[in-house]
Amino acid sequence: MLIHGASGGVGHFATQLARWRGAHVIGTASSAKVESVWRFGAHEVIDHVNTRFEEALDPVDLVFDTVGGELLKRSPAVVRKGGRLVSVANEPPEISAEAKVSAVYFVVEPNRGQLVELARLVDRGEIRPAIDSVFPLPDARAAFARSISPGTRGKVVLRVGDE
Ligand SMILES: NC(=O)c1ccc[n+]([C@@H]2O[C@H](COP(=O)([O-])OP(=O)(O)OC[C@H]3O[C@@H](n4cnc5c(N)ncnc54)[C@H](OP(=O)(O)O)[C@@H]3O)[C@@H](O)[C@H]2O)c1
Repeated sequence: MLIHGASGGVGHFATQLARWRGAHVIGTASSAKVESVWRFGAHEVIDHVNTRFEEALDPVDLVFDTVGGELLKRSPAVVRKGGRLVSVANEPPEISAEAKVSAVYFVVEPNRGQLVELARLVDRGEIRPAIDSVFPLPDARAAFARSISPGTRGKVVLRVGDE
């Protein structure tokens, strides 16, 4: 599978979870973040600044997109017949019926059971969260501003309580 934005807040979890479930993971990232995607366990990493991803891989079963825009528009071309394109960033482009590719814009809903399972995986060291910064709860406004600013590396954490 191909993961766009594999170093990002969503992408670095997707990369590790897909690897944990046994997928062959190809991640895209900008040059400065390529190294981090290797560390998250990708089998292949494409520097999307210097390489057109379409020219660097064979068709894949699944594209998971966290970037949207141009990368998403170009993605149906690399999904093999019967495959899927899932974006959490934007609505996917129209795809012709002959391509036999299903495409969805997925919006996550909080799910306690899944969060508990994720926490267990983190506790066991199976997946590693990348933490960009930690803010105390009263600084939630600053934390939000940080979370939507360019150049974050991983998750922005709100600390509740003193520990
Ligand atoms: N639908 C949902 O339920 C849901 C849930 C959570 C988040 N989201 C959305 O998912 C997206 C990603 O969230 P996030 O928290 O992972 O953000 P993030 O930490 O900023 O990561 C996004 C990644 O996209 C890459 N990127 C940015 N511009 C790019 C470009 N022009 N070409 C290629 N790559 C580019 C960046 O990596 P490089 O610097 O390596 O390019 C960055 O690591 C956001 O749009 C967010 O709103 C949706």
